[in-house]
Amino acid sequence: MTDRFERAIAQWVGAPYVAAVSSGTAGLHLAVRLRGLGPGDEVVTTPFSFVASANAILYEGATPVFADIDPLTLNLHPAAVEAAITPRTKAILAVDIFGYPAEHAELEAIADRHGLVLIEDACEALGAEYEGRPVGSRGTVATFAFYPNKQMTTGEGGAVVLDNAEDWEVVKSLSNQGRSDSGEWLTHSRLGYNYRLDELSAALGVAQVEKLDRILESRAEAASRYGELLGGVEGLELPLADDAGHKRSWFVYVVRLAEGIGRNGVMARLAEQRIASKPYLPSIHLQPYWRERFGTKEGMFPVSEDASRRSLALPFHTRLGEDVQVRVVEALKAALA
Ligand SMILES: Cc1ncc(COP(=O)(O)O)c(C=O)c1O
Repeated sequence: MTDRFERAIAQWVGAPYVAAVSSGTAGLHLAVRLRGLGPGDEVVTTPFSFVASANAILYEGATPVFADIDPLTLNLHPAAVEAAITPRTKAILAVDIFGYPAEHAELEAIADRHGLVLIEDACEALGAEYEGRPVGSRGTVATFAFYPNKQMTTGEGGAVVLDNAEDWEVVKSLSNQGRSDSGEWLTHSRLGYNYRLDELSAALGVAQVEKLDRILESRAEAASRYGELLGGVEGLELPLADDAGHKRSWFVYVVRLAEGIGRNGVMARLAEQRIASKPYLPSIHLQPYWRERFGTKEGMFPVSEDASRRSLALPFHTRLGEDVQVRVVEALKAALA
């Protein structure tokens, strides 16, 4: 089933090689390992992400260097990336946050200019398109994630997308205790991990890929309904619309509250109506572990911090119906009034 799942994802994304792994985090770790990043190497990445994208850099002893984000896309700002490059920089790790594609062409150009490796965390973005092509199909090593909150799920699970057979073999070996493909079950040719996707999860994944188009369509419909219901509501900024180069895959529906609106109060009023919402997401450099280890603090990445302060994730999933959305929107309007 794992072989079938890998082929199904590869075909769906339009990429030559896919290695299934046990989570998106495992996939990111192996991407960092594959590219040989380690102590002394700096990796420029975004503070506005789920913590795993930056943790993967730490696992290999490399140094994450944050660059601020674009206030509209919430993805790495290419100019900030360029400004963060030093003689020790070896890589850029870009995230397609909330399923909105990062500025891949510009990041590739920066990587080429400075001789850097590019890694794509597409864990939130299966089905997104950049310049008309699915994310993960540009030849950059990319990772997807299949936790149950993602567009499609395998329970826990992830995938690494690769553009050549040699890299694929290394990632497969690393995910399988460093076994080589010689067929010797107890021959270990490198330091590996147990990052295998299990067969049961892979079977679920095969079935999910079969209906992935429908899943993505339902999510896009739900997002567009939110857009209609929330259009014109004062005090709210809606998610950035697609443009010619960027097609979002709907992972979450995150609005931004206008400056001065108390987010906790809004959340409390929604909770009174039994509607869950979440501040989404906190900037990584302000997480307790990062503050303690690196001395990072408020003011270092103001655009990311502003997004973290004002963003609110509304209930969102594949089967979200109009009745529920109307209830959410009415409650939100009342909370903002
Ligand atoms: C941007 C990003 N990177 C990495 C991950 C990690 O994926 P997983 O939870 O499958 O380890 C996630 C998932 O939550 C994510 O949103």
